[in-house]
Amino acid sequence: MSAAAPLIDGFGRLHDNLRISVTDRCNIRCFYCMPDADPKYGPREEVLTFEEIERLVRVAARLGVRKLRITGGEPLIRRNLAHLIRALRAIPGIEDIALTTNGVLLAERAAELYDAGLRRINVHLDTLDRERFRTITRRDELHRVLEGVEACRRLGYGPIKINAVAVKNLVEPDIVPLAHYGRERDIEIRYIEFMPLDAQGLWDRDRVLTTDDMLGMLAAEFGPLEPLPDADPRAPATEYRFADGVGSVGFIPTVTKPFCLNCNRIRLTADGKLRYCLFAIEEMDVRGLLRSGASDDALEGVLRANVRAKWLGHEINSARFVAPPRPMYAIGG
Ligand code: 5AD
Ligand code: SF4
Repeated sequence: MSAAAPLIDGFGRLHDNLRISVTDRCNIRCFYCMPDADPKYGPREEVLTFEEIERLVRVAARLGVRKLRITGGEPLIRRNLAHLIRALRAIPGIEDIALTTNGVLLAERAAELYDAGLRRINVHLDTLDRERFRTITRRDELHRVLEGVEACRRLGYGPIKINAVAVKNLVEPDIVPLAHYGRERDIEIRYIEFMPLDAQGLWDRDRVLTTDDMLGMLAAEFGPLEPLPDADPRAPATEYRFADGVGSVGFIPTVTKPFCLNCNRIRLTADGKLRYCLFAIEEMDVRGLLRSGASDDALEGVLRANVRAKWLGHEINSARFVAPPRPMYAIGG
């Protein structure tokens, strides 16, 4: 079998990274993602089975996809997730699998996922303050998330990272404490600018706590931060180390410094749609193909078509911007 041509879009960007959402359901209700009541979940029968996901990943791996990230909703809600991790790891070409979770179920699941070979984990955590955690997530689960992080540390996961969504007039008191928490545990905190992907249309530019603001807050506490010299230029986060050499932090400056030029990612939603961007309006269906006996060539065709259709970048900063029809929980982040 000759090697297939890689997935290169119209702007020369190589796509070797696939993010797979395994469910749109979630057990908390972060306001920048979910509505507080009655989230519009898709019908269960539309959710791809593990076999269907595995088949698509096999085809994607032949086209050069090397890195996978499992997302949700909350992926740990999906039963037997460890089976999927094990199956995906065994696919020739797949070099790296990571998981993004809100951590609520992590203390219970961390060991079986570790046994399945998972090592890289991102835990979503915006605050160490119980009240603010409740305000943000509309649930009282902070203690379980913290236990989940500790379980991962004990088991030897690494790297462990924490995703904190940066919302102005809300999480300013959390920026520095999170950094201390991370430095004490060798965990990188990644501050993510609030993006227009919430279900209730609450996003507003004035509610984005900017990367520059946060850099200033951290510098006032820890001294000037230095850009990490060996950072991966294609990773979305801009990483800095602290002046005393203890630990690093990352920023995902989607709004104030878009990094689309380096994008290497495509996304598969839980209901089997391919998306070339978080903010894409159009998407392409693979569920129908998978369920109608389509050939691998046909799956390859839709992967290529989706990458070929990719735009240069999102236009959050232009008057033309239109928020995508799916909120974050139905995309996977
Ligand atoms: N803006 C920025 N990040 C968000 N996330 C969820 N909603 C938003 C939003 N509106 C983040 C969470 C989660 C990741 C998948 O996306 O931190 O960990
Ligand atoms: Fe759930 Fe993640 Fe959305 Fe929060 S951001 S409600 S944890 S899917």
